[in-house]
Amino acid sequence: MHLYMSDHTAAALAHPNIAFIKYWGNRDHQLRLPSNGSISMNLAGLETRTTVTFRPSLSADRLVVNGKEQTGRALERVASFLGLVRGLSDVKDHAEVVSENNFPTGAGIASSASAFAALAVAAAKAAQLPIDAEHVTSQLSRLARRGSGSACRSVPGGFVEWKMGSEDKESYAVSIAAADYWDLVDCIAIVSTAHKAIGSTEGHYSAASSPLNWARIADSPGRLDRCRAAILSRYFEPLAEVVEQDSNLMHAVMMTSSPPLFYWSSGTLEIMQAVREWRLGGLAAAYTVDAGPNVHVITPSESASEVERRLRALPSVTDVLVAKAGGPARLVETHAGVKGKAGPG
Ligand code: DP6
Repeated sequence: MHLYMSDHTAAALAHPNIAFIKYWGNRDHQLRLPSNGSISMNLAGLETRTTVTFRPSLSADRLVVNGKEQTGRALERVASFLGLVRGLSDVKDHAEVVSENNFPTGAGIASSASAFAALAVAAAKAAQLPIDAEHVTSQLSRLARRGSGSACRSVPGGFVEWKMGSEDKESYAVSIAAADYWDLVDCIAIVSTAHKAIGSTEGHYSAASSPLNWARIADSPGRLDRCRAAILSRYFEPLAEVVEQDSNLMHAVMMTSSPPLFYWSSGTLEIMQAVREWRLGGLAAAYTVDAGPNVHVITPSESASEVERRLRALPSVTDVLVAKAGGPARLVETHAGVKGKAGPG
């Protein structure tokens, strides 16, 4: 084998995910061991495709996202992840990473989950990491976690639980139900915002400064149980209650951290209140908000067009993306272009 003489390349696709029970704060920041377990749904139709090529001729790692050469923190974060992969592999060359998102970058949908899930799957293949066939998903999920915590949940398909684990080897995500188990849809209400929010990575460090943090963590096993049970029984009302409470708890911690983090805009609150009223009026819908102002409105597919129509009628909503539950991260042909738009496919 001439490992150092030739290029090693592979490409992978991954979907972002929306957390029903959120990851906020780490017990170990370096290893990204979270303070609590989390549950999410992959988002079909939204995808990142990434090609990784380890080349003997490169003198440094390169990162190109949506046709644009990246420098600074984005490149450093990917280079540090590739360093981890090289440490586990016989391939020691630098790599070129070419990545495309088919969802609008300015839409405020976190791309780090799909980005690091696709990167982990492609890099592991390209670097020929020794992964035992029986545990491919858990090992790739563990690897993706080191790049971005939520990325570990984009590796398995459908409805996914990240078991926090007590050490590196135990902290990875598993599928609790396939994508077609329950016809849920995420209607993502895009809210315009003037200022840029603080990123999640910084936020995970500040969680512990909130006096509410311990209570959020202590109560998390019960919320995980309620959320998992609601998914497995496809019972929307208890899912809605626990998803909204969990989002509110995370934002309560964010707002009471030092410095305080306010991700909501006035439009965010307007949408959250509207969704609760709609539910009281009989429309099955629940909100959840990540580290930004956009509101993810979870609804059974039969109510999705009504939810989308009502969201579009709110003055603070500039656009709505619609995604049903998506499949796992997977290898794809190299040189495949990104086609299609975000949609319910
Ligand atoms: C609010 O996974 O983006 O979306 O590990 O630093 O990349 P890093 O953080 P990240 O945090 C996600 C935070 C969240 C909640 C969630 O998706 O669980």
